Amino acid sequence: MTIERTLSIVKPDAVAKNVIGKIYDRFESAGLKVVAAKMKQLSRAEAEGFYAVHAARPFFNDLVNFMISGPVMIQALEGEGAILKNRDLMGATNPKEAAAGTIRADFADSIDANAVHGSDSAENAAIEIAYFFASSEVYSR
Ligand code: TYD
Repeated sequence: MTIERTLSIVKPDAVAKNVIGKIYDRFESAGLKVVAAKMKQLSRAEAEGFYAVHAARPFFNDLVNFMISGPVMIQALEGEGAILKNRDLMGATNPKEAAAGTIRADFADSIDANAVHGSDSAENAAIEIAYFFASSEVYSR
């Protein structure tokens, strides 16, 4: 395993539920370190740009509207196999299919309001971290 970084977002539903700390505890308990973080109200353009890969999907407009419905908590996580580890902690996209004990099983309400985002590949992790953080804002630990 190599040390990786991944981009994580606590989405507006989970911020509204006041479970940022509970979700951070999952990361830290699994050996992932928060190496960058910011709370942010995304603009429509920022949300559209972030999810540009989904622009042609039928759920795109609802997804963007959801992502701008309130502030999000954005973080870069660092650790051994961080990308897959975070995906495992998150659980399946649809919380109804997410394994017991995962973030989405415990905190998400629906496939669109599903509590967290996590990069799905090393390539996307690098793009997504750079989308929200200058390299000077990422603190390797
Ligand atoms: P996706 O990248 O497939 O899932 P994940 O977040 O697990 O990587 O989709 C991005 C987001 O789009 C997903 O978190 C929620 C939303 N979405 C829907 O609202 N409906 C859908 O049918 C799908 C597939 C995704």
